[in-house]
Amino acid sequence: MSTVAEIFQTMEYGPAPESDKEAVAWLGKHERVFGHYIGGAWTEPGQLFDVVNPSTSRAIARVTEGTKRDVDAAVSAAAGALPAWKGLTPHARARHLYALARGVQKHSRLLAVLEAMDNGKSIRETRDIDIPLVARHFHHHAGWAQLLDSEFVGYEAIGVVGQIIPWNFPLLMLSWKIAPALAAGNTIILKPAEFTPLSALCFAEIADAAGIPPGVINIVTGHGETGAAIVEHPDVDKIAFTGSTEVGRIIRRATAGSGKKLSLELGGKSPFIVYEDADLDSVVEGVVDAIWFNQGQVCCAGSRLLVQEGVAERLLAKLRARMERLRVGSPLDKAVDMGAIVAPVQLERIRGLVRQGVDEGATMWQPSWACPTEGYFYPPTLFTDVQPSSTIAQVEIFGPVLVTMTFRTPEESVALANNTPYGLAASVWTENINLALDIAPKIKAGVVWVNSTNLFDAASGFGGYRESGFGREGGREGMWEYLRRAVAGGRRATDDGRRTTGDHVMRGNAARRSSSRPSPAASRQPPVAHPPIDRTPKLFIGGKQTRPDQGYTRRIYGPGGELVGESPEGNRKDIRNAVEAAHAAAKSWSRSTGHNRGQILYYIAENLSARGEEFAGRIAAMTGCGSRQAAREVDASISRLFTYGAWADKYDGAVHSVPIRGVAIAMNEPIGVIGVVCANEYPLLGMISLVGPALATGNTTIVIPSEPHPLAATDFYSVLETSDVPSGVVNIVTGAKDGLAKVLAEHDDVEAVWYFGEREGVKMVELASASNMKRTWATWHERDWLDPEQGEGREFLRAATQVKNVWVPYGE
Ligand code: NAI
Ligand code: MG
Repeated sequence: MSTVAEIFQTMEYGPAPESDKEAVAWLGKHERVFGHYIGGAWTEPGQLFDVVNPSTSRAIARVTEGTKRDVDAAVSAAAGALPAWKGLTPHARARHLYALARGVQKHSRLLAVLEAMDNGKSIRETRDIDIPLVARHFHHHAGWAQLLDSEFVGYEAIGVVGQIIPWNFPLLMLSWKIAPALAAGNTIILKPAEFTPLSALCFAEIADAAGIPPGVINIVTGHGETGAAIVEHPDVDKIAFTGSTEVGRIIRRATAGSGKKLSLELGGKSPFIVYEDADLDSVVEGVVDAIWFNQGQVCCAGSRLLVQEGVAERLLAKLRARMERLRVGSPLDKAVDMGAIVAPVQLERIRGLVRQGVDEGATMWQPSWACPTEGYFYPPTLFTDVQPSSTIAQVEIFGPVLVTMTFRTPEESVALANNTPYGLAASVWTENINLALDIAPKIKAGVVWVNSTNLFDAASGFGGYRESGFGREGGREGMWEYLRRAVAGGRRATDDGRRTTGDHVMRGNAARRSSSRPSPAASRQPPVAHPPIDRTPKLFIGGKQTRPDQGYTRRIYGPGGELVGESPEGNRKDIRNAVEAAHAAAKSWSRSTGHNRGQILYYIAENLSARGEEFAGRIAAMTGCGSRQAAREVDASISRLFTYGAWADKYDGAVHSVPIRGVAIAMNEPIGVIGVVCANEYPLLGMISLVGPALATGNTTIVIPSEPHPLAATDFYSVLETSDVPSGVVNIVTGAKDGLAKVLAEHDDVEAVWYFGEREGVKMVELASASNMKRTWATWHERDWLDPEQGEGREFLRAATQVKNVWVPYGE
């Protein structure tokens, strides 16, 4: 009897080709030339470019380069279809999504073959992974469509959505984009990647046949310029992008200040961490899946193998043996492990980076066999002796190239894992569940796979931390990306007519003029007597009241021009010190219990309440809003602190039902250090409404209070000091709002910036945020902070957190 090892050595593989007949016939039906799919019909082909099969390097079709005019036509078709689509009952939309799922299933083999021909990926993967997941995605989202009204109360579709996708999972990325957008009631213009447009065009035909109304889905082909035209189109309400971090940055900047909602799924350099008690044979198969799946052209590829020292040599020996037996060849051969690289430019990129790795002193190893010479193939490649700071350890190679590094202790493994600006995914391999679940929260990544890798499902959100982008795709968390707070009859009016525009210092008067709420008697009352100006104004940094760096103060006047007090003029250096303090506090605050954080929030409320009259007096003096209104603001602030005291131990994650034996645990994690730039109005309540949710969920903050009325914030220091708030959790820097906000937005150690102010400021913050792709929540829209529906709740908690999905399979 021969052993498996002997069989592997003696048996030759024969070819097992999948037929391309049906795909060729479909191409033939279109005479291999395509226009765009706009408004439910094919446009006349325009300027054409070749679609190439990477495994033969031959053109298999030609598609149209989308012009600005094409994009215009598609956007107006989408806009035209929007009211009717949005107006359908949830059940009607659910039926449409269900029909799409069925349509994909009915044509699954055609789509699988077409995808393999266009992208170069193996039929084994398109048939068993890509296309089934596509169908699953539409099925799952048919469910969200059905449940929309009951599960997303108070939210509605955003409008016309522009979606730009990459070439590595052409149809899968299409489904990740289209399914949630449609379920939520949006209409779509989607651009597939220039290398791989065919499955999207085939899908358009399937959607057409499934009865999707004209204009609801529009597919426009083209290169980056076509994508840019979608991004810049004024009638597009949201952009969803998957692709390179470089283009993600361009899109962040291009949409800054436009009010377009944005989600970005970008690159990664994901760690694959192996501890010495791991089952090494499973690990080897895991590595194959992690880095040689789809030729390594996977945003969440486990491209950095981090191995505990004691088992490194043994694992690498097993790995080399396995690599020797991988098969690279025709994507339509059912027995190959790896197909072709998508295009010559990508092949060149991989070659260049590998050369650089060798030049920088790492050791490169490839199996002894040779790749096919026709087409764009690259062998599986292993690097050892890699320095953590070297190019190949830092840069996304996006090819079948694995770099290996070793570590000694779990602590070191976490440091090494997080030594990247990215944060998309991670794999953790150990037989010790305690260790796995200790490590998972410490890794900065949106997905962590325990003893597994590259698991995806429509029920579980996918998306990154840090420079891997923001927003989630899949599950309930992904639906939020395609919804916005419903506005009754256009923009929701604030009940007392306060605006973020105009003369801030006169806000009290303006509010009085247009106010309907505060009683006339209240507004006629003179400001409450305020304390004499005898305080030395300071900033609040690292738990201490500190003098501003440059030693300047500004005078703060009341509505009648009377001097109310002074506040320090913070500068760049003060912000930097505050960021440092916030960072120092972040670790222990984020790990403190919800109960603990809740206690502190209640305690702040208690201490504020004890000084309620003083705060009301200060607010009235600064804003002239009248003592009744000022007292309401203080009361609302206390209530709001209670709200977040309540939420601190109740903002639960979820356990997703994914189709594996196991669970995906969705944890709401703090974002980290948040810059909080407060609205000018409601100087106390506006600040507490933002600091409350940030603290409740475990973030630390640098707060820039209301510029015209900062004294409620400076008075607040002593409340913080007596409420057991750890040093550095709340830092307050007063001064010129937009100047300070810019420093925060540009700061690489700030993970998110919230900004409530003018449109120009929003634009500035969004532009500056692109440097480290920090999350922004920036808005110029009016908000009535007194109204709990607008001023508190889950919307705020969502902004303060990011979801990490930890996949934990069961069984031996
Ligand atoms: P890319 O980011 O340029 O392309 C992705 C999509 O964006 C394509 O549809 C493209 O036409 C479009 N696009 C390009 N420029 C645009 C612009 N200015 N405005 C709007 N849309 C634009 O990625 P590319 O050039 O194909 O690959 C380069 C590298 O990017 C890869 O080597 C890889 O490292 C990374 N990448 C990462 C992906 C991921 O899933 N994370 C997917 C594809 C590429
Ligand atoms: Mg192609």
